[in-house]
Amino acid sequence: MKVAVLGAAGGIGQALALLLKTQLPSGSELTLYDIAPVTPGVAVDLSHIPTDVKITGFAGEDATPALEGADIVLISAGVARKPGMDRSDLFNVNAGIVKNLVQQIAKTCPTACIGVITNPVNTTVAIAAEVLKKAGVYNKDKLFGVSTLDIIRSNTFVAELKGKSATDVNVPVIGGHSGVTILPLLSHVPGVSFTDDEVSALTTRIQNAGTEVVEAKAGGGSATLSMGLAAARFCLSLVRAMEGEAGVVECAYVEGDGEYARFFAQPLLLGKNGIVERQSPGVLSAFEKQALEGLIDTLKKDIELGVDFVNR
Ligand code: NAI
Repeated sequence: MKVAVLGAAGGIGQALALLLKTQLPSGSELTLYDIAPVTPGVAVDLSHIPTDVKITGFAGEDATPALEGADIVLISAGVARKPGMDRSDLFNVNAGIVKNLVQQIAKTCPTACIGVITNPVNTTVAIAAEVLKKAGVYNKDKLFGVSTLDIIRSNTFVAELKGKSATDVNVPVIGGHSGVTILPLLSHVPGVSFTDDEVSALTTRIQNAGTEVVEAKAGGGSATLSMGLAAARFCLSLVRAMEGEAGVVECAYVEGDGEYARFFAQPLLLGKNGIVERQSPGVLSAFEKQALEGLIDTLKKDIELGVDFVNR
């Protein structure tokens, strides 16, 4: 299994690379790419960790050497939020970066599974899909917006509130990955019940958790360490499924049947070639139904922005 991380010298990229170096199966290969000249050094640093994961780093304008033969590509290249910024404020810079990198993926490793971390995910995934389509290599079972951070935050906050162990809680999160489009399905957490006030307050906290970090870092960026962990969890699940493990399910933001919007975060059964099955969100509470109806317009506009960016 070969995994490439693009944007690997950044806050997320370095945390993610550390986790993958220590947790990918023996015999895997990890390549790091970033425009920052420090990137080969990050790989040398990590190469001293005693695991059987071969690691190499590349810097400069050309991602090709990192992408050659990749089975999974994770993209965390781009700028992060500062206080007062919304994820959509990142669009102007990050849209072009994602477009450029996905063009290189389309050329060098067109059959790889791609996980887009770069925000605004609601839009950058649509950009990636359109770029791949234009290149004639789009496979909607292999393109993911990484929304795992919403799940791990939900698990943590629910466990804190209910006095549970965070490792025992698994909250599915559907919709998109920004503000009101993030919809945690608190009614789907077994063995836990919430008052209406708790559901409303928890949902708001989960939707604004990114901003909580941005404000606490006071201009120093957004979530990097928890995001590194979230991306590693997603990637390692995908690796296990691609290597034949049955029953691996993760939520991610993907192109589906378009029931709600062309791209939609939902639970996915993963397999050797990416998505095996898009699982229905199931029965929703009245609160969740209303929240779902309320997020669709925003999500559709975010998607349209990405489609227009590539096709204008
Ligand atoms: P960062 O600024 O620490 O790192 C970004 C890296 O991207 C830098 O090393 C930079 O040199 C590199 N880069 C910029 N342009 C590039 C290009 N054309 N090719 C290759 N590398 C390039 O930012 P951080 O904190 O790592 O965040 C990265 C992205 O992830 C941001 O867009 C942020 O909004 C997003 N993010 C996504 C989350 C999610 O849940 N999906 C959560 C938190 C952040």
